Amino acid sequence: MDLKISNMDEYNNAYAMAQSNPQEFWAQMATNFQWTKKWDEVQSGTIEQADIKWFDGAQLNITENCLDRHLEKRSDQVALLFEPNDPSEETVKYTYAQLHAAVCKTANMLKELGVKKGDRVCIYMSMVPEQLISVLACARLGAIHSVVFGGFSALALAGRIEDCECKVLITNDAGFRGNKIIPLKEISDEALKMKECRSIEKVLVHKRVGSSVSMQEGRDIWWHDLYAKCSTECEAEVMSSEDPLFILYTSGSTGKPKGILHTTAGYMVWAAYTFANVFQVDEGDTYWCTADIGWITGHTYITYGPLLNGATTTMFEGVPTWPDAGRFWDIVDKHKITHFYTAPTAIRALMGCGNEFVTNKSLTSLKVLGSVGEPINEEAWHWYDEVVGKKKCPIVDTWWQTETGGILISPLAGITKTIPCFATKPLPGVSPVLMNSEGEVIETTEASGNLCIDRPWPGMLRGIWGDMERFKQTYLSAYPGKYFTGDGCKRDQFSNYRITGRVDDVLNISGHRIGTAEVEDAIDQHPDVIEAAVVGFPHDVKGQGIYAYVVTGHDCEDSIKAEIIATVNKMIGPIAKPDKIQIVKGLPKTRSGKIMRRILRKIASHEFDNFGDTSTLLDPSVVDEIKDGVL
Ligand code: WT7
Repeated sequence: MDLKISNMDEYNNAYAMAQSNPQEFWAQMATNFQWTKKWDEVQSGTIEQADIKWFDGAQLNITENCLDRHLEKRSDQVALLFEPNDPSEETVKYTYAQLHAAVCKTANMLKELGVKKGDRVCIYMSMVPEQLISVLACARLGAIHSVVFGGFSALALAGRIEDCECKVLITNDAGFRGNKIIPLKEISDEALKMKECRSIEKVLVHKRVGSSVSMQEGRDIWWHDLYAKCSTECEAEVMSSEDPLFILYTSGSTGKPKGILHTTAGYMVWAAYTFANVFQVDEGDTYWCTADIGWITGHTYITYGPLLNGATTTMFEGVPTWPDAGRFWDIVDKHKITHFYTAPTAIRALMGCGNEFVTNKSLTSLKVLGSVGEPINEEAWHWYDEVVGKKKCPIVDTWWQTETGGILISPLAGITKTIPCFATKPLPGVSPVLMNSEGEVIETTEASGNLCIDRPWPGMLRGIWGDMERFKQTYLSAYPGKYFTGDGCKRDQFSNYRITGRVDDVLNISGHRIGTAEVEDAIDQHPDVIEAAVVGFPHDVKGQGIYAYVVTGHDCEDSIKAEIIATVNKMIGPIAKPDKIQIVKGLPKTRSGKIMRRILRKIASHEFDNFGDTSTLLDPSVVDEIKDGVL
């Protein structure tokens, strides 16, 4: 059976079959791939036991499925199209044959550096082809990639390197981003000086900018020196289905970021299946996802999903507003982009720059528009539909998470009827349920509750690196036998799903996930800070902004706010910097010492009435003080 669904009847049939006979359904889907050895069992293990396995007993290598498998038919087709930051710099194209050769060469470089199956390799790079190539080179060898977004600070990088004990770090001398240069090697050096980074043996440095950087003898190697010496042939390591493919760190409501673990076969099938069905890319199409490979969207929908399907995938190094707010649309016209996938925050930012940046472009190549990362508001949805898509392009509002590996709820382009702000229908194999406050499944169709997934799907995370207890605790215990997403959700009378946002203490800032606890811990590092509480508030462009209430030791200068921001930049990175900082005398706490965040969220959103039951507050007067000083 082909991966691709082409009409609503086929969707209904696929959905029904994946529910009634998942083993048979996924066995059929899996025949679309190249296996070294077939599986013994399609799916085994349970959510209760936290031991989910897909295609157990099988052997494969995901890069053979992304690259080698296509060489017969597609060796001269463009696999990767790279659009540089500076529009006057030339586009770089890799055909499938060239990408295959580059991945093999890079895998051989990593071998030279001592990388073996199961080793962890950290990739801290800007959006250049070598970033995607490094990801695939790791997979070629069976090394586990851990990509860290280039916007994270040295400390955040060090923490991630330490947590999974990476052996090799791949970085750039520096990266271009709009009119800025990000000193990636310098930040890496700073990270590696920290005592917790002892696992790193070699640093492979790809020259992008030509910045002067210091190279440590014996540790640091230039990419171009080694690359020239390496062969274009590298046999793919034979991997077992459940061998780890990658780790990707993401924030939770408590503690430090979690290393989300994805394994080989199930992730591969899910990435390929969801890409094929949601986007409906055809021969000759050019697909572009604007995400960074440092996030899950860039893993599944720039790298693996498109390549597994033999599509042409686009990588853009720059930012949407440089040299001007028409850059995305210039690129669409330049490369005749057919499928365009971006985040609501980018849509809102561009919407605010005026329609003329869009309407003076052709955009006739566009067929499908996608949205991901956060709830899309009605105004942005319609602007995207009308001004960008000229009402001719279906919008796929794709809901998923780092943990889910790929899209779980989304329209299928051109097949599912779209509704503004609705992610609409679950993909075949996805069984969403809404839970009420008693922890029971809500049986009525029209409902609202906490979103859980009732059974395992192939792309589901298999754990948190080094912490199985936290894995069970975070996702599998709130509702026994179910995966808890952390999202609130509404279902209409026709069983369309609308995601309403996080129900835990996780913020979604411009589509980036940030834990309130993480930002609070960072602010606490400032020597004059006694205590901080961080909440989200509605923000026109970012979706949510960060509001920090800070208690300081003594009367502080106004400069403390800038210092707090600098502290957060240092601890996490600029993406976690508070938009508003209010210095307060105290935080609203219950007698048992728990901060009443509900009240702080309301005040930050300028909702001053109806704080609910405040009778358990230790000192109700702090609420008035905070209210009076609100920003
Ligand atoms: C959280 C996951 C999925 C890749 C990018 C973010 C929110 C994601 C949507 C959407 C409403 C969405 C959820 C989710 N989210 N997509 N289409 N509509 N909300 O991945 O960093 O793991 O964040 O992003 O709250 O739980 P992530």
